Amino acid sequence: MQQEDIEKLKEAGKIASQALEFGKGLIKKNASLLDVLDKIEKKIFEFGAKPAFPAQISCNHIAAHYCPDDDDKTIFSNQLVCLDVGVHIDGFIGDNAVTIDLSGKHADLVKASKEALENAISIIRHETAVSEIGKVIQASIQKYGFAPVRNLSGHGLARYGQHAKPSIPNFDNGDNTKIEKGMVFAVEPFASTGAGIVQDSGIATVFSLENKKPVRNPITREILKELESYNGLPFTTRWLTRKFGIRARIALREMQQLGILNVYPPLADKDKGIVSQAEHTLLVDNDGKVIVLTA
Ligand code: CO
Repeated sequence: MQQEDIEKLKEAGKIASQALEFGKGLIKKNASLLDVLDKIEKKIFEFGAKPAFPAQISCNHIAAHYCPDDDDKTIFSNQLVCLDVGVHIDGFIGDNAVTIDLSGKHADLVKASKEALENAISIIRHETAVSEIGKVIQASIQKYGFAPVRNLSGHGLARYGQHAKPSIPNFDNGDNTKIEKGMVFAVEPFASTGAGIVQDSGIATVFSLENKKPVRNPITREILKELESYNGLPFTTRWLTRKFGIRARIALREMQQLGILNVYPPLADKDKGIVSQAEHTLLVDNDGKVIVLTA
């Protein structure tokens, strides 16, 4: 990795962590979920970065990918709230997440994913096998009597690549892939009171552009141009409806039918278990030193 790129990564990581901290401070009873996310994204731009994906807040049994449309009326009361924030500078991504317990009833669940993340980070070296990381995450979460979410995982971060290799499992999956020098990746344990398996739940509002195809509608053509400016990074419906009006929905539908988009529906625990999350982005530098970029 070149020094210049490492500097951009470090800056993205720092801003991601500042934006997460800022957002954490806004999540309070009676605050609006939509308003909190808008403020976080505005802050990311003020910090001189861009969202690497739409900031997301998933509550209770939803583990990931909940992103509100403009008519979303969710108000915080006593939810368990997972906040996931990613930023990029010139395509170099920092990704981090935290859980806030507004119920006051899930302290152990929050601790389980947080400690799983800390314990995982403490064993990561150049040449650690990803299954070893998964094993530590699994043990840390099971110690509290909860289930690690097995079909969600940490992930490599490439330039403009939000889900690159390697995959970092949240359990011992036997994958012998090794952490190498120059790798950037997010470690992302989820702990569940339920099945520890998530499934699609509800309507997707998060997408990314997978491949380009000729489109018919002028509005779809216009929006396709906008999507290209994201360089393959995820976006959300309301970013488009705010800029292009309600017609953006027609375009999204057409693009989905053509198979142009990756679609990320909200993911909920199969047995409606409550889910907590913690996440940091790490870099193993050219000397093999492990750096937590979002610390
Ligand atoms: Co992530």
